[in-house]
Amino acid sequence: MLAGLAGTLLLITPFTPELLREECLSTSFRGNYIDGQTANSVFLPESACLASTWPLQDSSASIVEATQDIQQLTWFRREAIEPSLADTVHSSQSEFDSFLQKLSTTLKHIAREQNVFTVPDNNRGYELLYRTPTAALLSVSHRTAENIDTILPRFWKSALVSTTPVNSIPVPDEALNHVRHVLSTLSFDTEVASIVDSISVPQMIQDVRFLTGEDNISGIMSRHSFSEGSRTAARWLKEQFEDTGAKCELQPFLTGFAPNVVCIYPSTVNTTATVLLSSHYDSRGSFGSTRAPGGDDDGSGTMAVLAIARTIARKGIKFHSNVQLIAFSGEEQGLLGSKAYAKKMREMDANITVMIQADMLAYRVPGEPAQLGQPKYIGTPEVAQLVANVSALYSPELVVGFTAACCSDHQSFHEQGFPATEVSERAGPIADPMYHHSGDVSDREGFDFDQVKSIAKVQQLATLLHTAGYEL
Ligand SMILES: *[C@@H]1O[C@H](CO)[C@@H](O)[C@H](O)[C@H]1NC(C)=O
Ligand SMILES: *[C@@H]1O[C@H](CO)[C@@H](O)[C@H](O)[C@H]1NC(C)=O
Ligand SMILES: *[C@@H]1O[C@H](CO)[C@@H](O)[C@H](O)[C@H]1NC(C)=O
Ligand SMILES: *[C@@H]1O[C@H](CO)[C@@H](O)[C@H](O)[C@H]1NC(C)=O
Ligand SMILES: [Zn+2]
Repeated sequence: MLAGLAGTLLLITPFTPELLREECLSTSFRGNYIDGQTANSVFLPESACLASTWPLQDSSASIVEATQDIQQLTWFRREAIEPSLADTVHSSQSEFDSFLQKLSTTLKHIAREQNVFTVPDNNRGYELLYRTPTAALLSVSHRTAENIDTILPRFWKSALVSTTPVNSIPVPDEALNHVRHVLSTLSFDTEVASIVDSISVPQMIQDVRFLTGEDNISGIMSRHSFSEGSRTAARWLKEQFEDTGAKCELQPFLTGFAPNVVCIYPSTVNTTATVLLSSHYDSRGSFGSTRAPGGDDDGSGTMAVLAIARTIARKGIKFHSNVQLIAFSGEEQGLLGSKAYAKKMREMDANITVMIQADMLAYRVPGEPAQLGQPKYIGTPEVAQLVANVSALYSPELVVGFTAACCSDHQSFHEQGFPATEVSERAGPIADPMYHHSGDVSDREGFDFDQVKSIAKVQQLATLLHTAGYEL
């Protein structure tokens, strides 16, 4: 689908809610995309709209005019990582420059070899529309956009920009009432403590080794969203969750992508209230390798959500809210599975009282204490506070803090006006040396199953029990 012809105007500006109150901007809004600490809004407005709304735009706003027909707009950003992990040869800026210099040749080469990318003969295969040291906006072919994560510099992530106008709905104050109530009445409960303590580490080890292929049984080489392994993982996850009494569906969201695995435990009482816990099961490996075990990213979050399901079954827990456990796909291509799902939840006017995404729970720098990181920029502060206070009660061994690493699937829910946060492994930038690497297996130094259990038991299961209400 063409997003626009040559001459199309783009406005890229730091997000403020005021922008979306202008009708001509809100109807040309294509979403928020992160650069460092800033959420940047991308618009494709008419020139009259740009003129009439000029005073609203930030002084750092950029207006660019595409010289070619716009294909698939794709946002690129550098993730917040520990400086010691970075390539010592390239600065973050030059690693993306050298990626761009080689991009035409790489695309043509891969198009010939693997028939994965499409490169029109008449241009370089892309147009660079916007660039900062840590982010960029390119127009590339649709097929290239969906696969470009496989050739990106390791610490850069890509996200497909929506081809149609999108909504950004602030979380309404009344949607926070339930979280506030749970937070203000929270106290240690011995029954909750005994349930969450029973999460099984040996079971988690077995589960993640199936997902990474380390058990030599699953045959999974990769869970990249387009891989055969991702489909094996989806079917297996559905079966495992169904064995715990959940009702599950494989929900496709875009042609070619492995589906979301959506599992539901209905409430025992008549209520619309829904608590949602999730992870993403798709993975990313090293450039040039077909191996993408995704042990930490995000096998760890996925084994944690599955461990919660197994505990629900073992303890015979029935909930007083609807509970959804979801393993998303398409996260590495720009939160695509969760965006589609969160949009559907908004259209259904779902009453999601709390949503918590688990992404990368396992890696602990040798010598550092076990940690729990929460997103510094994108998410609902009240939910983060609830998670922090639940943590102090049930996993006091965890050092809780914020991370600038940004934006897993909770962003999709936050942008649809649902209270949402994320739990992750470090109260600081990403330090896992196997991040986005084909060596991201679970059997390695620093991969800490006890930390995964601490996070799973508290932030997810205890928060779930306190928020949803339950009976045994
Ligand atoms: C959450 O924990 C903090 C730190 O212990 C405490 O000051 C705060 O009162 C707690 N919040 C609520 C709402 O209980
Ligand atoms: C899986 O196969 C590899 C390579 O043959 C071997 O090193 C490893 O020990 C095997 N793992 C298991 C769990 O059997
Ligand atoms: C559940 O509650 C809604 C709203 O209060 C009501 O309309 C509906 O009839 C109830 N359903 C059942 C099965 O009691
Ligand atoms: C959503 O669920 C909460 C918790 O049960 C309830 O207090 C609230 O009224 C519900 N909101 C709507 C819009 O039904
Ligand atoms: Zn991830």
